[in-house]
Amino acid sequence: MAQVFPKSSNTLSKASIVVAGLVVAALGLATININRTTYVNTQSMPIDQVVQFTHTHHVGSLGIDCRFCHFSVEESSFAGIPPSKTCMGCHSVVWKDAPILEPVRESYRNDTSVEWTRVHDLPEFVYFNHSIHVNKGVGCESCHGRVDKMPLMMRENSLNMEWCLACHRAPEKFLRPKDKVFTMGWDPVKELGVSQEELGLKLKEENHVQSRTNCATCHR
Ligand code: HEC
Ligand code: HEC
Ligand code: HEC
Ligand code: HEC
Ligand code: HEC
Repeated sequence: MAQVFPKSSNTLSKASIVVAGLVVAALGLATININRTTYVNTQSMPIDQVVQFTHTHHVGSLGIDCRFCHFSVEESSFAGIPPSKTCMGCHSVVWKDAPILEPVRESYRNDTSVEWTRVHDLPEFVYFNHSIHVNKGVGCESCHGRVDKMPLMMRENSLNMEWCLACHRAPEKFLRPKDKVFTMGWDPVKELGVSQEELGLKLKEENHVQSRTNCATCHR
């Protein structure tokens, strides 16, 4: 009973410094994590557009092929957003006077484009190319999700570096036959009775798919 607190208080204050340090570190981590969460980078948040275009109707119900509108996706780095002319092919007849389509008609008359807000937008120091992915058998769905079930377009994946690399390290987890690249909801077990892994490894060899993790692949 000679000393009530001395050593333990010393340890205590040391301990509290350690605890405080941990809290700071935890907060720091939390901030880094917040920056990577879906909230800040708007993943999974539908984006408000001038025209409420729905992939659900056009792809899901009407069954229009992606390439009808995103016509450069097989040959170019960009998939492309369709000009109003593409819409007017149908909408000069269907829903001809609907107010919701006025921005489309107006841009068609003025020979301008509808001002769509981009949903996916990589930083400029990243090189991306659609055609190589499409031609090596990576489906739109693997990166963009079930577009046919999106009333408004949203971002299914983070598009951050770890996400790209996860597939680049093991592309066999995603590869599909080239003629199924545009299909939504394709499932190798149901369609071919083989597991994704078995099919993926076979396609990887057949189509000479490389595992590309070199920095210069995406930063050139
Ligand atoms: C009838 C035309 C049409 C068809 C068919 C169509 N799209 Fe689109 N798509 C658009 C338009 C218009 C936009 C821009 C407005 C928006 O973001 O919703 C768009 C936007 C997108 C975007 C987001 C672009 C961005 O800003 O980052 C993706 C991804 C996309 N489409 C994928 C697909 C896929 C995959 C298919 C086929 C399964 C498909 N689309 C079929 C017209 C179409
Ligand atoms: C192949 C014909 C076709 C093309 C091309 C087409 N649409 Fe449509 N669109 C339709 C039909 C049919 C409907 C009516 C869908 C329904 O309600 O059953 C529709 C409906 C709409 C609607 C009403 C909301 C909804 O989805 O029901 C909007 C807005 C629209 N389209 C925008 C566009 C835009 C923008 C483009 C060009 C990027 C476009 N469409 C291209 C056939 C087409
Ligand atoms: C390997 C992943 C991946 C695949 C597969 C993929 N996309 Fe994309 N897509 C992206 C990324 C990443 C962006 C953003 C590109 C940028 O910001 O430069 C994008 C952007 C887009 C855009 C916006 C316009 C543009 O070209 O930047 C459209 C439209 C689109 N994709 C449609 C499609 C369609 C249709 C398919 C299937 C044929 C497809 N994508 C397949 C990853 C992919
Ligand atoms: C779902 C799988 C998948 C995802 C996700 C993916 N890729 Fe790829 N990527 C591939 C495959 C498969 C190839 C073809 C590799 C080969 O055989 O050359 C490829 C090739 C590339 C190439 C061309 C390499 C070259 O040297 O020609 C670039 C650039 C690229 N990817 C960038 C990206 C970026 C940037 C992202 C993320 C925003 C990304 N990829 C996400 C599967 C993917
Ligand atoms: C498959 C494509 C791909 C490869 C390979 C790749 N990167 Fe990245 N990198 C990205 C993408 C996409 C981003 C932007 C998104 C993000 O912030 O994660 C990025 C962002 C970065 C950044 C910015 C900081 C950050 O994290 O936001 C640095 C630095 C970087 N990469 C360095 C590297 C180095 C070093 C390598 C090789 C070891 C490498 N990258 C390989 C796709 C790639």
